[in-house]
Amino acid sequence: MVKSVILAAGRGTRMKSDTPKVLHKIFNQTLLGYVIDAVNGTDIAEENYVIVGHQSEKVEEYLNENYINTKTVLQSPQLGTGHAVSMVSPYLNDYTGEVIILCGDTPLITSDTLKTFINAHKSMNSDITVMSAVFDNPSNYGRIIRNTDGTINSIIEEKDADTEQKKVKEINAGIYCLNWNKVKNAFNQLKTNNAQSEYYLTDIIEWGRQNGLNVNAHILERNEEIFGINSKHNLAEAVKIMNSRTLDKLMNDGITIVDPSTTWIDPQTEIGKDTVIYPSCYIEGKNTIGSNCKIGPFAHLRGEVILDDYVKIGNYVEVKKAHIKSHTNACHLTYIGDSEIGENVNIGAGTITANYNPLNKTKSKTIIGDNVKIGSNSVLVAPVEIKEGANVGALSIITKNVQEWSLAITRAPMKIFEGWVKKKNGK
Ligand code: UD1
Ligand code: MG
Repeated sequence: MVKSVILAAGRGTRMKSDTPKVLHKIFNQTLLGYVIDAVNGTDIAEENYVIVGHQSEKVEEYLNENYINTKTVLQSPQLGTGHAVSMVSPYLNDYTGEVIILCGDTPLITSDTLKTFINAHKSMNSDITVMSAVFDNPSNYGRIIRNTDGTINSIIEEKDADTEQKKVKEINAGIYCLNWNKVKNAFNQLKTNNAQSEYYLTDIIEWGRQNGLNVNAHILERNEEIFGINSKHNLAEAVKIMNSRTLDKLMNDGITIVDPSTTWIDPQTEIGKDTVIYPSCYIEGKNTIGSNCKIGPFAHLRGEVILDDYVKIGNYVEVKKAHIKSHTNACHLTYIGDSEIGENVNIGAGTITANYNPLNKTKSKTIIGDNVKIGSNSVLVAPVEIKEGANVGALSIITKNVQEWSLAITRAPMKIFEGWVKKKNGK
């Protein structure tokens, strides 16, 4: 088992936002949430410490609500990454296992990579392992400086680097694995004699070497995994990378994505094979889509949607928090929210489940039985139940439950006035 320390106290100035950087979202998950999920996904993280500082209350509240194995530790003022890690020292006095350190703003890191990294650390019998990556453009990162025999010497920050050091393309990815018992003393010996007058976490490399520890760098295979978010531009780029990963995985699993360039699917959504996703769909949150479904073009699934097999959700259809059983179609211009819909149902174009009462701000449920047919442009005012086999005439406003196999219709009867136009015109 390991413990993790996730650095998230920084200001995130370039996001230009009132929301703390790490609480920005990609689909329905926060940047910090992705990092914690990746750590928890290794199945060896017994406890996580998140270092908070800037807007700490918001981050703390978020973590308390969403993560049980995660504690927050306040760093105030923020005097650098080394100072940030030293904040957990009081909590880990007697701990002798491994500590992994990550940043809260690198949402693309995966559990697999963390597992490989920790395994490499263990198999080298390493005391300090830093994750490195080779970048064509290494600017702004700390550079990995190696000795002539290839062993790691130190990490030099860009702002402290000389011209030769700046040419080095191997960079510090900002993820570390430490043998805590051997490294913990480093944190009260760090100094601030550098360009930024900060306590640098990176200085533990040199400290380790000088104290006879086994210090190593482990090169990351997929550079995108440590892509850090510093601006809204970075955020948009990360969404794209995450989305294309998700689509690749889905296509490998037998799902047809007609146009990956206009399809957005949350990584938390599961889809069964032989389902076809047509262009321009936005599928966010946790959804479970069965096999042989047809979704889109231009469909919006907003989370907590369960579609059984052979369901059709067509263009301009929005679905939120609904279970729709097999062979049911909602093919055009429809809103389905807070609903349970049976098998073999046809939802006509323009149907709306009116689930929200803005006066008391409550949501109510619409229940539709098997084999029901809803005529076009109907409004089903929830709470309401339309029982098995019933039909609803087009343009109806349904405010009461409809019994099995009945017809419900509320529109005004149609009238025809023959020759009315000619008479009006005096002809
Ligand atoms: C750091 C590394 C650099 C590495 C890069 C990878 C140091 C000195 N440098 O640089 O070698 O290439 O990450 O992205 O560590 N933070 C705190 N408290 C602080 C300062 C920072 O919690 O007092 C957090 C930030 O919120 C952020 C992380 O630590 O999540 C990294 O800090 P940042 O200022 O971005 O460091 P870099 O300059 O990018
Ligand atoms: Mg950074």
